[in-house]
Amino acid sequence: MTEPTENPAIEVYGLEDRSFPPSEEFRASALVRGSELHDEAARDHEGFWARQAADLLSWRRQWDTVLEWDLPYARWFVGGQLNASENCLDRHVEAGRGDKVAFHWEGEPGDTRTITYRELHAEVCRFANVLRDLGVAKGDRVAIYMPMIPELPVAMLACARVGAAHSVVFGGFSAESLRGRIVDAQAKVLITADGGWRRGKAVPLKASADAALEDTPSIEHVVVVRRTGDEVAMAAGRDHWYHDVMAGASTECAAEVMEAEDLLYLLYTSGTTASPKGIMHTTGGYLTQAAFTHKYVFDLHADTDVYWCAADIGWVTGHSYIVYGPLVNGATSVMYEGSPDHPGRDRWWDIVERYKVTILYTAPTAIRTFMKWGTTEPASHDLSSLRVLGSVGEPINPEAWMWYRRHIGGDRCPVVDTWWQTETGAIMISPLPGATTTKPGSATFPLPGIAAEVVDDRGQPVERGGGYLTLTRPWPSMLRGIYGDPQRYHDTYWSRFEGRYFAGDGARVDDDGYFWLLGRVDDVMNISGHRVSTTEVESALVAHAAVAEAAVVGAKDEVTGQRIVAFVTCKGDQTPGDELGQELRAHVATKIGPTARPRTVIFTDDLPKTRSGKIMRRLLRDVADGRDLGDTTTLADASVVDEIRRRAEAAPQDD
Ligand code: WTA
Repeated sequence: MTEPTENPAIEVYGLEDRSFPPSEEFRASALVRGSELHDEAARDHEGFWARQAADLLSWRRQWDTVLEWDLPYARWFVGGQLNASENCLDRHVEAGRGDKVAFHWEGEPGDTRTITYRELHAEVCRFANVLRDLGVAKGDRVAIYMPMIPELPVAMLACARVGAAHSVVFGGFSAESLRGRIVDAQAKVLITADGGWRRGKAVPLKASADAALEDTPSIEHVVVVRRTGDEVAMAAGRDHWYHDVMAGASTECAAEVMEAEDLLYLLYTSGTTASPKGIMHTTGGYLTQAAFTHKYVFDLHADTDVYWCAADIGWVTGHSYIVYGPLVNGATSVMYEGSPDHPGRDRWWDIVERYKVTILYTAPTAIRTFMKWGTTEPASHDLSSLRVLGSVGEPINPEAWMWYRRHIGGDRCPVVDTWWQTETGAIMISPLPGATTTKPGSATFPLPGIAAEVVDDRGQPVERGGGYLTLTRPWPSMLRGIYGDPQRYHDTYWSRFEGRYFAGDGARVDDDGYFWLLGRVDDVMNISGHRVSTTEVESALVAHAAVAEAAVVGAKDEVTGQRIVAFVTCKGDQTPGDELGQELRAHVATKIGPTARPRTVIFTDDLPKTRSGKIMRRLLRDVADGRDLGDTTTLADASVVDEIRRRAEAAPQDD
């Protein structure tokens, strides 16, 4: 251990001293109430995961070896055989749970479908037969570009059933992004829809798909689900309507027997360079950890809970926590197609009330949006069914955490802030809600069976203080590589610190051993040699009564290296201006210290976000540096950038 005080990798300022132990009432029926799982995993890492694999999954053949670890390549449950769709469907039906609801699906226009495990099983079998008829076989790749409709999980599970890897491309991505991903994966079939509903408008997917398909020679067939009813072009011989090909398909379909280490899916994620990385996930280990975390992090009582993960299946959160984790566990889920403000800003709370949702899993950006909209909407609905709240995707500011707990959770529900990545496949750092005393804004501790350490620049462990988050042991759902690029896999994750997986995130460990995520390390600023995390300045800003949302970046500065520029959106009733700007600068200086005082505060009505809701700091940095803006195609709303740029040019610079 090194002393964290001399030259810490990242300077940190504790802002938070509230803590929330699990209530007695919650603990009384919680799956985990103490340290039993952590203790078991600490005693026998491999034995612990082997027990989970055996308890949570059905295997066609038992594995011979739990783990083969040849850094940086892990193989879990080697020799074991299973099929993912059988684990999600067949065994529940066989066990007499066929009439249990798998999905309460709701379309944005208000149409609904209730789908039982038996019905989902039948539909998946039929579509798996369709895929086989189209020539899809074990080892192939299938691209999926769809809205949030039930046919999306059906398509994924049908791929898994025939042993083809799916590559889901988020429906908000452009034709060009889709094309690049299809080509990289050499996908044979594309499954899409005419369109999907978003904010009352039909988003045309088939038209984008057609543009992508002009240059994707590997694609032999396209299956199109009719969703919006808009007219689309259908290429004869290549394109098939889903309802046509499904019409004659049998509901009997033998599942392909897969090796634990066979590829289950590819999911592309952006890195520091332009070309996205095809993250590879395999079958046995991935399903084990997805199911384990879904069960214990959310304290799932599958017989009674109504679980809702409000992410899009196009992101890893949807893969692991709408599709694989919940279905392996036999849970009942809500799935919603559209936006949270259609037709009103209470759409989510209406859904929670009507389906009596008990577990809600969403992202800080959504929570901060709701904060901005105010408490009237959630207060006008009965949210008393909720018992666990989850957060994922970004560091959650303590203020947002507290708002979530109070206004959505009625001060009654534990909040679990879950840290993980596309690459980790499943949750890694998180409270267990019946056992862990939470602190607002902290993901608390690595889960049982997960080994995380914060290290300094030289890779030395930092027991208390700030640094870089690394993982020191293989975990079952870890990525198995980057598709077609082993060198990049090695360079991106395993080269910075010897023998450690480097997640790219900054973190600090507080005096009680709690982990606090500080954002990507490229979101760490250096002000006169002091490294300051953007997250902590943002948290201070959001803690001010006038602020709804804040994004902080370091702009180049000749004297101090970097200077802090804050982009701030105010709550509805506030008047942004010089006076408030000065007040916010002073507020941060008081909360954190003068080093962290923003040099510039730029007020804006909205912040530029990626389609998954992450604030585009790279873009804000470019604005702050006065450079030309780069590619803005992944912006949720490109007009925001122009507005921000205009304001940045007009904002006063202070020191
Ligand atoms: C960030 C999403 C703080 C982090 C599952 C990570 C978080 C990246 C949290 C992965 C959290 C995710 N607290 N930061 N609870 N969860 N992140 O691949 O920077 O879309 O590296 O996976 O999101 O994003 P990805």
